[in-house]
Amino acid sequence: MSEKTLSIIKPDAVLKNKIGAIISRFEDNNLKVIAAQMLMLSREQAGAFYSVHKERPFYQGLLDFMTSGPVLVMTLEGNNAITKNRELMGATDPAKADTGTIRADFADNVEANAVHGSDSPETAATEIAFFFPNLGG
Ligand code: CMP
Repeated sequence: MSEKTLSIIKPDAVLKNKIGAIISRFEDNNLKVIAAQMLMLSREQAGAFYSVHKERPFYQGLLDFMTSGPVLVMTLEGNNAITKNRELMGATDPAKADTGTIRADFADNVEANAVHGSDSPETAATEIAFFFPNLGG
């Protein structure tokens, strides 16, 4: 089933010049970039995007990190895009991510973990609407 999901290439991976390498992983696995914008997140934007984590101890550090440099926000489309993107990313903590995944190859630690991806259809719809309000379902 064709789906859309939100992907963010985070400041650590942008700084390391890994935008192309990461997008190649998506394209090589039949995920198509159908929308993209490069931007510096404001603290307010980052806080709203990650509001589900606002009670977590890592929340303020996460906002510091996500606003530390530019990010590339994308909508990806393809069969089972949500699950496929999560498989390609690997576990949140790169130390636990499977060999060959984006986080195993490009991430430094559980905070600076190279990429974000929506974790469910509901989250994907909310996250896509957050950055691409004109894209629709
Ligand atoms: P992401 O998939 O974008 O979703 C929430 C983010 O919070 C996560 O990736 C990490 O960047 C960060 N995060 C999750 N757990 C921790 C943790 N234990 N310590 C620091 N940052 C974390």
